Amino acid sequence: MADPRGTVRIGVIGCADIAARRTLPAMRADSTIELRAIASRDRLKAKGFADAFGIDTALGDYAELLRRDDIDAVYLPLPAVLHAEWVERALLAGKHVLVEKPLTTELRDTERLILLARERGRLVMENMMFLHHPQHSRVGELVAEGAIGELRTLTAGFTIPPKPADDIRYRPDVGGGALVDIGVYPIRAALRFLGPDLRLVGAVLRVDRARGVVVGGSALLSDPEGVTAQLTFGMEHSYRNGYALAGSSGRLGVDRVFTPPPEYRPVVRIERQDHREEITLPPADQFANIVGFFAAAVREGADLTSYHDDSRRQASLVDDIRNKAEYAYLS
Ligand SMILES: NC(=O)c1ccc[n+]([C@@H]2O[C@H](COP(=O)([O-])OP(=O)(O)OC[C@H]3O[C@@H](n4cnc5c(N)ncnc54)[C@H](OP(=O)(O)O)[C@@H]3O)[C@@H](O)[C@H]2O)c1
Repeated sequence: MADPRGTVRIGVIGCADIAARRTLPAMRADSTIELRAIASRDRLKAKGFADAFGIDTALGDYAELLRRDDIDAVYLPLPAVLHAEWVERALLAGKHVLVEKPLTTELRDTERLILLARERGRLVMENMMFLHHPQHSRVGELVAEGAIGELRTLTAGFTIPPKPADDIRYRPDVGGGALVDIGVYPIRAALRFLGPDLRLVGAVLRVDRARGVVVGGSALLSDPEGVTAQLTFGMEHSYRNGYALAGSSGRLGVDRVFTPPPEYRPVVRIERQDHREEITLPPADQFANIVGFFAAAVREGADLTSYHDDSRRQASLVDDIRNKAEYAYLS
């Protein structure tokens, strides 16, 4: 339970880049959250983060953080393959969990941990931040109002240039590669706009043979009416991060949809035969929005069933892509 003052006391496991850049500043600025402790495999690193983000306690052991009784919830920004183990340990220790995307790397673990959270009366939530930017609701409204006619297809991509050689994403047993780390964004965008009945039609995964890890890929999904999603992801590309929806009478596109900074004003481009228009939307802070949402969910004991359904569908599509894709091995 959250403490009587109504703040949610959070412990952080892992001094991750994403924690430093986005999540911890957002948590620190949220008056409903108290950052109580941070743990690293290296206590000095934890001390550096604690000093930078005004956290009282720095620990050199993840398990020690889970044993504390002054923590209601943990934030887990660990590499993807480690999520399942630490979500489970946190739930068994009686903590609510905000875990970085993907919730886990396999459908069976995602299902098991959603069930475990329910059995233990604790919340588990995947930190899929982009969903908490209101630009997607505005896009949904424009489509529903007929801005592009009947929806026929969505294209979505998240591609980035190569990372430093020691990045977690190049380690199959740690970061798990580009499908689980990056591919989940366009998959989730497809679920957001095309609904829950998407199934895999085909996919290609590109594998760095020396490292044994997926570095990029594409997938084609379809709903029962043949409305399709064409998805691209990878870490051997130029930077791209956006989606476009094409319909019977027009096309709508938005860039920087997955990682817009708080001050960024999204631009929706609409094109029809005799019409071209750009709609500039107000800026929004998806990082603040999601941590505030999680804290409110913990305080109020919110029902996250629809969130969990989407995490499950995403994990199921990731499993399908992994199992059914055509693999290209790069030397
Ligand atoms: N939501 C978003 O927008 C977003 C954006 C980027 C990344 N992410 C997700 O956040 C997670 C972390 O990504 P990141 O880029 O921030 O990674 P990162 O900087 O490499 O941080 C991962 C942390 O995990 C801990 N760790 C534990 N065991 C490890 C091991 N065997 N090898 C390496 N690190 C280990 C380390 O903390 P200690 O050394 O302190 O123990 C490390 O700092 C991933 O799941 C990623 O998909 C989310």
